Amino acid sequence: MENSKSCVLGALADLAVVVVLSLVCEGAYAIDPTLTVGADECVDCHTLEYDIWGETTHFKTYDELSASDAATEIADALGLDDIEAPDGTCVDCHFTLVGETLEDAEPNAGISCESCHGASAGWIDVHGEYVSGDAASETTEEKAARKDAATDAGQIRPEQINLIAANCLKCHTVPNEELVNVGGHTAGSEFELVSWSQGEVRHNLFWNNGETNAEASPERKRVLFVVGHATDLEFSLRAMGKSSEAGKYREAMADRVRQAIAKLTSINEKISSADVTSILTIASGIDVSAAPDQAQIDAAADQIQSAIEAFTMTNNGDALSAIDDLLPVGEGRYSEKY
Ligand code: HEC
Ligand code: HEC
Ligand code: HEC
Ligand code: HEC
Repeated sequence: MENSKSCVLGALADLAVVVVLSLVCEGAYAIDPTLTVGADECVDCHTLEYDIWGETTHFKTYDELSASDAATEIADALGLDDIEAPDGTCVDCHFTLVGETLEDAEPNAGISCESCHGASAGWIDVHGEYVSGDAASETTEEKAARKDAATDAGQIRPEQINLIAANCLKCHTVPNEELVNVGGHTAGSEFELVSWSQGEVRHNLFWNNGETNAEASPERKRVLFVVGHATDLEFSLRAMGKSSEAGKYREAMADRVRQAIAKLTSINEKISSADVTSILTIASGIDVSAAPDQAQIDAAADQIQSAIEAFTMTNNGDALSAIDDLLPVGEGRYSEKY
């Protein structure tokens, strides 16, 4: 109630604010710009991660997007004169917005720490502050309570593989029909979570004090692989459900759905997981070639989301070695950066 009231008040107060507010009211912003603090607040304690991030496409898009001809063409096709406009279409996926209020939210960086680990105003102080002074003297209960407090305040932690994957795919499926059909933007990335997270994005040096930027363990990679494809299915379905016309966007999303189903089918031939079986059964209830029924698709995607969560909670990868020959080792687009 409070929320919808403030949307109306904001709309009455200032026309310029309406656009920004309505984006947040509809949940269209990937993250709430009033709850982000920006990557520069992380650098003191996470210097090594920050330096690696500075070499990534995610970082560089902040400086390079506006200058790129491809971006200008898309913006022109959409009639958008400022690619960096805080209330425009591009910032939501390409930049991180930071502001005291929605009205003064401005792009502060490209895709940054908080784009993947969650807006941090509520957890930045909590997550790294040891209850008993240092990591060694903190009890197991204190540690669990600290992690829970950070999670409750919106931190997305590496062990929450389902949430990490959902976050990537929320952007990487490009669920915006007008952007694709009118703007000519690519209809999503050829995304695969193991190779895409273990290449230039990888920054696993915190727990070993920067000795090495370690790859995820073989067990973790197996879970990343299954969860990545299942989450691709979930978000491709959601994207397809939003489609209002036949065209490039709808076809691309339907193709993604088919590909994810094929991948999960070959995975499940090897691991016979009850959760993956249930995901495939739910997906088979959707007619991918028909005009999408958004309510039906969203309901199916919600059920798939629950099954992915269950899979993540009950699998640490030990029992999934049967899929090792499906994993993208030594091949694929980002393998040279392993
Ligand atoms: C004052 C120092 C400090 C700042 C500032 C800080 N962190 Fe941390 N961070 C830590 C410490 C200490 C840990 C390890 C906590 C532990 O042992 O559970 C940590 C752990 C993490 C983890 C891993 C959590 C887990 O449970 O595996 C992530 C992700 C993270 N920080 C992200 C960030 C981001 C993003 C920012 C900026 C928005 C940030 N941190 C700012 C000190 C800090
Ligand atoms: C829903 C998320 C999303 C939105 C909104 C979005 N993009 Fe993108 N964009 C992406 C993703 C993901 C990629 C990477 C695609 C790939 O893997 O090929 C990308 C890639 C691009 C590229 C190709 C890479 C490059 O830097 O040359 C351009 C150009 C681009 N986007 C422009 C725009 C413009 C302009 C807008 C706003 C009108 C916009 N994008 C809005 C997600 C988005
Ligand atoms: C593209 C999304 C993305 C961005 C941007 C990102 N992270 Fe991460 N982060 C991850 C993922 C995914 C993992 C788990 C890595 C894995 O499974 O190999 C992770 C792991 C971590 C860890 C645990 C590292 C360890 O040693 O295991 C910390 C700490 C962390 N990130 C902090 C940061 C900080 C600080 C920034 C910004 C400078 C940042 N991250 C930017 C996705 C991201
Ligand atoms: C807020 C939206 C967003 C999130 C979240 C996000 N990405 Fe991206 N990512 C993009 C955009 C946009 C680009 C393309 C930027 C450009 O080229 O200008 C991109 C590019 C990349 C690239 C480089 C692709 C290339 O063609 O070189 C990799 C790898 C990548 N993302 C992996 C990930 C992974 C793994 C995650 C999750 C852990 C993730 N991304 C989360 C928006 C996002």
